[in-house]
Amino acid sequence: MRSPIPDYLDGALQSVAADESGAPADYIPELAGADPDRLAVAVCTIDGARYTAGDVGVEFSIQSISKPFVYALALADRGFEAVLEKVWVEPSGDAFNELSLDPETSRPLNPMINAGAITTNSLAGAPEMDAAARHERIVDGLSAFAGRRLSVDDAVFESEMNTAYRNRALANLLRANGIIDEDPIVAVAAYTRQCSLSVTTEDLAVMAATLANGGVHPVSGAPVVSRAVARQVLSVMATCGMYDGAGDWMTRVGVPAKSGVSGGLIGALPGQVGISTFSPRLDRHGNSVRGLDLFERFTADMGMHLMEVPPATTTVIRSDRVHHAPAGDVRVVSLQGALQFSGAEQVLRYFVDKTIEEHRIALALVRVQSVNDVARRMLLEVIRRLSLEGHEVFLIDPDQVIPDPDPGTGGSVVVLHSLQDLLPLWRRRAAE
Ligand code: DON
Repeated sequence: MRSPIPDYLDGALQSVAADESGAPADYIPELAGADPDRLAVAVCTIDGARYTAGDVGVEFSIQSISKPFVYALALADRGFEAVLEKVWVEPSGDAFNELSLDPETSRPLNPMINAGAITTNSLAGAPEMDAAARHERIVDGLSAFAGRRLSVDDAVFESEMNTAYRNRALANLLRANGIIDEDPIVAVAAYTRQCSLSVTTEDLAVMAATLANGGVHPVSGAPVVSRAVARQVLSVMATCGMYDGAGDWMTRVGVPAKSGVSGGLIGALPGQVGISTFSPRLDRHGNSVRGLDLFERFTADMGMHLMEVPPATTTVIRSDRVHHAPAGDVRVVSLQGALQFSGAEQVLRYFVDKTIEEHRIALALVRVQSVNDVARRMLLEVIRRLSLEGHEVFLIDPDQVIPDPDPGTGGSVVVLHSLQDLLPLWRRRAAE
């Protein structure tokens, strides 16, 4: 069978192709010459499947889309505290190149605006690294996100350096306020080099999918950054990634995102996909016009809005039956679904509200697909409390959704593969 997804993506590109509004960025001369009609989309799932349509082979400079990834490297290399001390995480509501710092702390308000991004560039790598080593760390790090070696487009770099008066002003402001230590012109060159890395639309989808996959590369399975770093970066993308259009974006599209002035746009839906689009004509916020339309369409068509409330979950308690066996009755409470806090709370409440007469209680996880960390701890606490009340507790867990269950002090549990395993257990016990 041929997948319908590329056809869907082709159709989506066709639906926006006629829109010629907006214009390519012209404050970087090299970008002003970009072919405004280029149009591409790529999707990468967290298990590495890739779908593309349009001009996906075309390379363009990553520009501000580098910011979340360099922020990730700074967090990984220096730790959260050191980075937060220098760059805060509050939306600025300003344009990307606004000359603004927090009036109280002098910190840039977030790492997505240029002031924050010049600072996070200086925080990537070890403190003792010189500019060349730090650049290597950034190229290595962004290449690890992409899964292929990226390189700088020197023409774009030179072109932006010739006109980077605003970023120089920002770097001077940062230096004057003790936020960066290096020479402002060195800091601007380093940041501009980061923005000049060449990528394809497909690279960007894979990079976004690495964030959506908790920092693990979706194709190779290589860990790039920790889950905690990926979560922090996605949060800041959700609140600050689209600058002064962030609120409008979050309500209309609802996916953590980042735009770049060369026309790229990425979105990362945690636990699902990375998406990227490329179309050089920009709106007044500096975001790709057709990219924005495409993302809005995907969200609507594929139910990707992060704030979409999932359909009400059915009860986690699938059944509650007493099994009569010669060796005595067993109360079997069967659970179902993917258990998180709210599901585990249902189980907890079930046992709080019910008086169980039977001595033996079995919790059956046969229909449970997954148990997250908090739900695992809550279920183990249910088991511990039932044990302390004098019950003998069994866990029927054929797929080991709770591996090595340890209910803690005073608790005990017998793990079985299936309910049928109770019979030989009774026989063994009777023979002992
Ligand atoms: O700092 C700049 O002006 C560029 N190198 C990057 C700006 C950018 O991509 C803003 N994004 N929409």
